[in-house]
Amino acid sequence: MRYGHFDDVQREYVITRPDTPLPWINYLGCESYLGIISNTAGGYSFYRDARLRRITRYRYNNVPVDLGGRYVYLRDDESREFWSPSWQPTQNEVEDYSCRHGLGYSIIGSRYAGIEAHTRYFVPLGENLEIWQLTVSNRRRSRANLSVFSAIEFCLWDAQDDATNYQRNFSIGEVEVEGGVIYHKSEYRERRNHFAYFACSAEIAGFETQRENFMGPYRGWERPQAVERGCCSNSIAHGWAPFGSHRVKLTLEPEESRQIVFVLGYHENPRDRKFDPAGSLTIDKSTVKPVIARYLQTSNANAAFDALRSYWSNLLALCRVETPDVHTNRMVNIWNPYQCMATFNLSRSASLFESGIGRGLGFRDSNQDLLGFVHMIPQRARQRILDLAATQLSSGGAYHQFQPLTKRGNNEIGGGFNDDPHWLIIGVAAYLKETGDWSILDEPVPFDNQPGSEEPLYEHLQRSFAYTLERLGPHGLPLIGRADWNDCLNLNCFSDEPGQSFQTTTNQEGNVAESVFIAGLLVVAGREMAEIACRRGLQNEADFYAGQVLRMEQRICEHGWDGEWFRRAYDHFGNPVGSKECAEGQIFIEPQGMCVLAGVGLGDGKASQALESVHERLACEHGIRLQQPAYSQYYLHLGEISSYPPGYKENSAIFCHTNPWVMIAESRLGHGDRALDYYLRINPSAREELSDLHRCEPYVYAQMIAGPDAVDCGTAKNSWLTGTAAWNYFAITQWILGIRTSYDGLQIAPVIPSSWRGFKATRRFRGVTYHIDVRREGRGNCVELRADGCAVRGAVVLPPPAGQSEVRVEVTIR
Ligand code: BGC
Ligand code: NOJ
Repeated sequence: MRYGHFDDVQREYVITRPDTPLPWINYLGCESYLGIISNTAGGYSFYRDARLRRITRYRYNNVPVDLGGRYVYLRDDESREFWSPSWQPTQNEVEDYSCRHGLGYSIIGSRYAGIEAHTRYFVPLGENLEIWQLTVSNRRRSRANLSVFSAIEFCLWDAQDDATNYQRNFSIGEVEVEGGVIYHKSEYRERRNHFAYFACSAEIAGFETQRENFMGPYRGWERPQAVERGCCSNSIAHGWAPFGSHRVKLTLEPEESRQIVFVLGYHENPRDRKFDPAGSLTIDKSTVKPVIARYLQTSNANAAFDALRSYWSNLLALCRVETPDVHTNRMVNIWNPYQCMATFNLSRSASLFESGIGRGLGFRDSNQDLLGFVHMIPQRARQRILDLAATQLSSGGAYHQFQPLTKRGNNEIGGGFNDDPHWLIIGVAAYLKETGDWSILDEPVPFDNQPGSEEPLYEHLQRSFAYTLERLGPHGLPLIGRADWNDCLNLNCFSDEPGQSFQTTTNQEGNVAESVFIAGLLVVAGREMAEIACRRGLQNEADFYAGQVLRMEQRICEHGWDGEWFRRAYDHFGNPVGSKECAEGQIFIEPQGMCVLAGVGLGDGKASQALESVHERLACEHGIRLQQPAYSQYYLHLGEISSYPPGYKENSAIFCHTNPWVMIAESRLGHGDRALDYYLRINPSAREELSDLHRCEPYVYAQMIAGPDAVDCGTAKNSWLTGTAAWNYFAITQWILGIRTSYDGLQIAPVIPSSWRGFKATRRFRGVTYHIDVRREGRGNCVELRADGCAVRGAVVLPPPAGQSEVRVEVTIR
């Protein structure tokens, strides 16, 4: 069953009933000002950091779910009836409800009692504010006398403190109201130099800035007293809960429409120009007023919206495909890159499953997110790489996470996740292949942000690699540390105290438990290092890396092979994890995917055998599970993975992030049918029909889908912020469709299903647009390339002569 449909022309998902199984969200903003908006206008906004600069308040795990947001109420001043066009919070039985989630905007509205109303929400490029454009139309035969109320609740900036420190927070709230603009300035009197504001384009008939005056005692969003009564008390908040609501009176003749613009924003003043007059406690509004005035004008708001639309048209034009499969086209051309923008901006910090408080930007996560983002805005990817590298420790290890506002590593979590450093190499390699910008390797970057410790980025990569070589275990495989990619495989944790973090509790020395997954990752990273060193003219070093790769491959084959698949790890006692010797958790997906995509076992049948085992033991109709059999009980020596009930999360769910590794591995073996089959099993658009089972948004990937061991097998969770986005984009575009960036040029080596006659694609790469036409003429995967009519040797199209900006590439598959 569906709750809406895709509109591929408008690049929107149109939700046509408000009661989706879960709130289906979108992101507003793609730079510094960001927000989450649900299909019924729930959600919140923040500036750069969801924890430290939260602008509006949101209560997670609320009942009813998803209350608090960017609300508009309409009131018929004659009948006194009131409702919200976004259905929530009043939940009236509205007609023609729709929510169009587009790229960077959402349009939500409906019709009720003959009044049509829609609000378009978006964040203009380059600004720290959001615009709500409310259009109200009278479809009655008679004049309508209405009141419009806006409503938001301010957060006292630090979302963690806001949700816990009531003894202080009930006393610090402060606002100003000037010219119909509500300014939220809690703590501005002391150490903050930022404030929020909420403005309205129409003349206002009143306002509220104290929550209780708006809602009324013991009431909530669904029946606010001010709306019910149809008047505001012009409250000024002193303490308690600063709020923002305007009331506008609106008289509409039959068929008349009016637009009201609301602007909610964030502004910083120079520290020495906070107050006006100086010495007072009144905000100096001289720099913010022009911004507010500009966007309250409909024409400027419309222009900003058009600019946002073109921004996305340009980004999406960088890679477009036309394949025989609608789900592939839709995800590759629209939604997957869009989701990659969200993961790039937010890492794993703020979604409906990530509170924005607990997790900053993950080191491994952000590096992997580059795989789906670097082609869109390489300059931002470059900066991200340098920021990430600056949190690396001089040992070559890495802080597991950092806060985007301060760009400092998080001490609470620390480091010791032994896969982390390798992802920096993989992220940088992706950047180099996309851009050919080798200068990044010479950028001086500090360690642990310590001034004076700067070394070229290349040295950071060297230390990343050395970090693992200095930490090998009894079988010569990399030590796992606190965890590797699988945060829940905690082989040194041994925690039996409730509430301890599985990630940061370490009760063992940590010099025995090894990871076959990191070994596979080292092979991938080592191959990149060898290539990079060679191109920098460091042949001895390149040979060294190639030698290390070979040694690690041998060790994987010797100690990491279980007979029919790759083992996962060795535990603290030196026993294998992910082996037929184990009672549970006999086979894991990660080493199969990573080792085969690294090229391990391609020559001797291990690779194909491993993938057969995946197909037989891990694949199911909803995707490929993380491991099998699921752990039925808690194992002290395995950690968090066995804490989850079977079928969920790392304990045997379809953990979607890992599936593309297998898709790539299948492509490497030339199995196009299987690669696409796996791709479609988790492709959200292909699962749209199952929306009532899947429950999450049908336009973006979720981190997990419950596996067959769970009662609700097929139900997704943790949508949006997951490495699944970047990896699926990478797998489908670079491996299945085979349009692959390489150090020297654009490689084209598709491994497509046997039934496909071909496909077309356009790919912008290092300033050149490649028009690619792929035709299948045989049943295999051998490719023949012609670039502008000339035969290409191998599969890499080298850059055309300077000045030429388009190349036609004909690809024949035989
Ligand atoms: C989750 C993992 C996550 C880890 C670290 C676990 O509970 O299942 O996916 O990486 O926490 O926060
Ligand atoms: C989600 C985390 O963000 C990511 O870093 C980790 O690799 C996966 N979970 C698997 O545990």
